[in-house]
Amino acid sequence: MPLLLAIESSCDETAVAILHGERGEKAVILASEISSQIPLHQPYGGVVPELASRNHSLILRPLVETTLEMAGICIDQIDAFAATAGPGLASSLLIGNTAAKAMACALGKPYLAINHLEGHLLSPFVSSTHVPPHIALIISGGHTLLLRVEAPGRYEKLGSTLDDAAGEAFDKVAKMVGLPYPGGPNIERTAVGGNAQRFAFPRGLLHEPHFDFSFSGLKTSVLYTLPKFQNLDAELPDLCASFQQAVIDVLVQKSMRAVRETDMKQLALSGGVSLNRALRAAFQNACDKDGIELSLSDPALCTDNAAMIAFAGLLRHLDGRHDPFDTPIHPNLPLV
Ligand code: KG4
Ligand code: ZN
Repeated sequence: MPLLLAIESSCDETAVAILHGERGEKAVILASEISSQIPLHQPYGGVVPELASRNHSLILRPLVETTLEMAGICIDQIDAFAATAGPGLASSLLIGNTAAKAMACALGKPYLAINHLEGHLLSPFVSSTHVPPHIALIISGGHTLLLRVEAPGRYEKLGSTLDDAAGEAFDKVAKMVGLPYPGGPNIERTAVGGNAQRFAFPRGLLHEPHFDFSFSGLKTSVLYTLPKFQNLDAELPDLCASFQQAVIDVLVQKSMRAVRETDMKQLALSGGVSLNRALRAAFQNACDKDGIELSLSDPALCTDNAAMIAFAGLLRHLDGRHDPFDTPIHPNLPLV
């Protein structure tokens, strides 16, 4: 059974995973280690690229050793090495990529350049035996992407964000109201018990016939609401709940329309924002009502991790589709 080692270093997480699997069988994650840089970037309210790449280069080697140890695997047992080749920060991508290529080259094993978005997209299916035709919604800090998936590698883009990504909107609104980075989990926590109907924030492009998204109007609307408060802290739960609901409404309604119009029977969510419990519940409700199967990633696979990169790599490795060592990294690597 092939063993894959994958590295993810596209942004502010250094991650290494080892996974094995065979066609028609569930892939098994033997180890998935993540070294988060959140505390490093927190004082700046966002990711500082130079700090991120410097930290990747410090952390990566010991993290590879820990991951091999956790999996109980010796490096020469690995059959192929994968790394995220984009999209992401160039200086961060280079660190993980160079390491994966170096290990593959030294051991005479194949190398796989993986699209980070494909990693997210396939993450709900890591523990299934196959990837069925479905509508996929990737909602992360950098992307909001709605796709029709026929099979691994066969993707049709239906829509994407015209401005901020869903996670970016969470992060920017959090910063505006004084909540720490990353904004998503902090907004979710603050919204618990808040009144989601209190503020009628705009639902961008909701009634347009296309499947594109826009969150910048929503963000501006939150900004204009702030000066009206004497005591912002007291209003925060309602404000966060109303903002979160506006994002959820748009994502749910557009995705469900895509499911209906394409006559698909399954919808899959991936990316950091899909960790949001209110969002998961809203999607589950909508899917139950329409008789649609909802596939969610395991929470550990929602935010950036290397197991999803290893799984995307495994599917390609099983098809014998490897990449040359001079494959470049690509900060804007498109998925379709
Ligand atoms: O997928 P991810 O780890 O990184 C990218 O590839 O961008 O997603 C990170 C994003 C951040 O914007 C973060 O605020 C958001 O996911 N996020 C959440 C939650 N947890 C993380 N957004 C809403 N609710 C959450 N619970
Ligand atoms: Zn990501």
